[in-house]
Amino acid sequence: MIHVSDTLAGWRTRRRGLEGRSIGFVPTMGALHRGHSALVERCRAENEIVAVSIFVNPLQFDDTTDLERYPRTLDQDIALVESLGADEVIVPSCSELYPHGYRFRLEPHSSDLVLEGEYRPGFLQGVMTIVLKLLNLVRADRAYFGEKDYQQLRVVTEMAREFFLPTQIIPCPTVREESGLAMSSRNALLSPQARDKAAYLFQALTTAAAGAQARAALEARGFVVEYVEERWGRRLAAVHLEGVRLIDNVPVPEIRPCEF
Ligand code: PAF
Repeated sequence: MIHVSDTLAGWRTRRRGLEGRSIGFVPTMGALHRGHSALVERCRAENEIVAVSIFVNPLQFDDTTDLERYPRTLDQDIALVESLGADEVIVPSCSELYPHGYRFRLEPHSSDLVLEGEYRPGFLQGVMTIVLKLLNLVRADRAYFGEKDYQQLRVVTEMAREFFLPTQIIPCPTVREESGLAMSSRNALLSPQARDKAAYLFQALTTAAAGAQARAALEARGFVVEYVEERWGRRLAAVHLEGVRLIDNVPVPEIRPCEF
């Protein structure tokens, strides 16, 4: 039977009872979809204990409307991870995670202020800060992150290494709908027509000869493009459709892949 901890004291008591067993961790902001299920399934296969956190982290949102609109489906999420065999769910409160407001934060390096770091001020700071807190609380052997948020995965991997965290960061492939659309909690905010159209993002990224061509093709279809860029062996993009921000990335074989 799954156990839900909604206080840090409660979680710490649970954690003490897990000493000596291998722990896998999947941090999430809820509104879980098949992409998250794949992370939990892999975590289940590789660890004795599976812990999932659900916390919508205000510090990583640069836009309050985006934060307010972020889908929240807690009961459904708990039922889903239970059906996938998770043992522990941690649902911490903002006041416990940030007891002194946002007094202490991790700052990204200026070289990270590209793509998401450039277009979403505060995003990487918010992600690194909350992930460091969660990794310290859970003290897992492994933590699972999707490649869809590629820059997040990269920054978290390097941050964990630089702070000598004992948790191994495991990258997991992006899960896609049959149309190619990358699974994302934000897809739920799209109308059915926009959801069909959104699949073109993946097509443009995989078929265009160069990033500039992908950008032009997306703009011609009515996407508002923030960036299409090639870095770290990937072609990465962020676009808006019906006011919903979508990101995706694909490997670009001719560029030397990034080594985590
Ligand atoms: O990818 C996410 O869902 C979030 O950025 C994370 C890693 C849970 C941190 O809030």
